[in-house]
Amino acid sequence: MSAALAPGAFRPPRDVWGPFARAAKALDRNSLVVLDARVADLHPRVKSICRKRAGAVVLLSAGERTKTLSALGRILVDGAGLNRGGTLVAVGGGTVGDVSTVAAHLIKRGVRLIHVPTTLLAAVDSSLGGKGAIHSSAGGLTIKNAAGAFHYADACWICPELFESLPDVARRQGAIEAWKMAASLSAPTWNRWRRARPTETQLIREARRLKALVCRADPYEQTGHRRVLNFGHTFGHVVESLTQFRVPHGDAVGMGMLCALDVGRATGITPESVAREVEGVLVERAGVKGRAALGRALSLATPSRVARLLAADKKAGPNESVRMVLLRRVGAWEVRGIDQTLWRGLLRTWMNGARP
Ligand SMILES: NC(=O)c1ccc[n+]([C@@H]2O[C@H](COP(=O)([O-])OP(=O)(O)OC[C@H]3O[C@@H](n4cnc5c(N)ncnc54)[C@H](O)[C@@H]3O)[C@@H](O)[C@H]2O)c1
Ligand SMILES: [Zn+2]
Repeated sequence: MSAALAPGAFRPPRDVWGPFARAAKALDRNSLVVLDARVADLHPRVKSICRKRAGAVVLLSAGERTKTLSALGRILVDGAGLNRGGTLVAVGGGTVGDVSTVAAHLIKRGVRLIHVPTTLLAAVDSSLGGKGAIHSSAGGLTIKNAAGAFHYADACWICPELFESLPDVARRQGAIEAWKMAASLSAPTWNRWRRARPTETQLIREARRLKALVCRADPYEQTGHRRVLNFGHTFGHVVESLTQFRVPHGDAVGMGMLCALDVGRATGITPESVAREVEGVLVERAGVKGRAALGRALSLATPSRVARLLAADKKAGPNESVRMVLLRRVGAWEVRGIDQTLWRGLLRTWMNGARP
């Protein structure tokens, strides 16, 4: 199907569900596997299959520190051994997936990419949609996803046995991103999940379906439609940066959604009843940490540090405003430019662990 498309060009997702050993029969010597080192330890069979079948295997320690130039450089060194027509296979969570996506874009000006998500977050979100990025550091602040590329995967192998070793904290990160998509994109999904807790397979299938629709409508973030995926991410990225990533991505996005609900109320876009319902369900069902955790996460915040982080973010708007995704109701959203006075007023209350 994708033979005529350049490697990395937009294509609808091709999901292959089943055991890793079965999917990996497609590996050949002209493939490079980038493998999360922890996954290699926890799933030795995966490591041995990759070593046996692929041309080379790069082991990376996952985590935000792997989204750096030095990790990218390690992949590029081994990637030089791929021929054009080669394939990079990223086996890991969102951090290994993101740096591998950039590498796949650069090696030979673009090689085929296959994602094998091993965290729930990667399965519901980061392994779909073509985006990869690394961070940069400037003036003591890490700028999240400062440099990146769009490079769509040829396929995604979803191997449920790989998720069995995930700790609860990692499961929560993925669940929060999936609930984010339901809140912003689909009232029917939201209501179904609210009534009966979804299984992880349901979270993966439905979140991927919702995200795929958004990416199809706006594959390269040109029409603005794709911005909806940033719901919760404006202040989520601030939380991640201020805590030096001690608060993991999903938890930070969860807190960022609470901030977005407050900004939505303050601008009159999110009705109070919607904000209350969404916050309640996110905290009780999706595992989003509440107000006290947000206050702790922001304990090192000052208005000027937050302003610097927001300005460095790709979502910065004109005249020092920041573009935010706000909910009109569940499943309906809009983007608004928020000026500094508004969020500065809310920041104090957030830092006190209270709801404005
Ligand atoms: N590209 C995108 O569209 C997109 C979307 C959402 C998030 N992201 C990015 O994804 C990243 C977060 O991804 P993540 O939450 O997967 O983090 P991660 O890659 O750091 O993985 C979290 C931890 O889980 C471990 N792990 C991975 N698989 C495991 C398994 N099967 N069993 C046990 N442990 C396992 C990892 O070694 C790591 O310690 C962030 O950098 C975020 O910006 C990207
Ligand atoms: Zn995210």
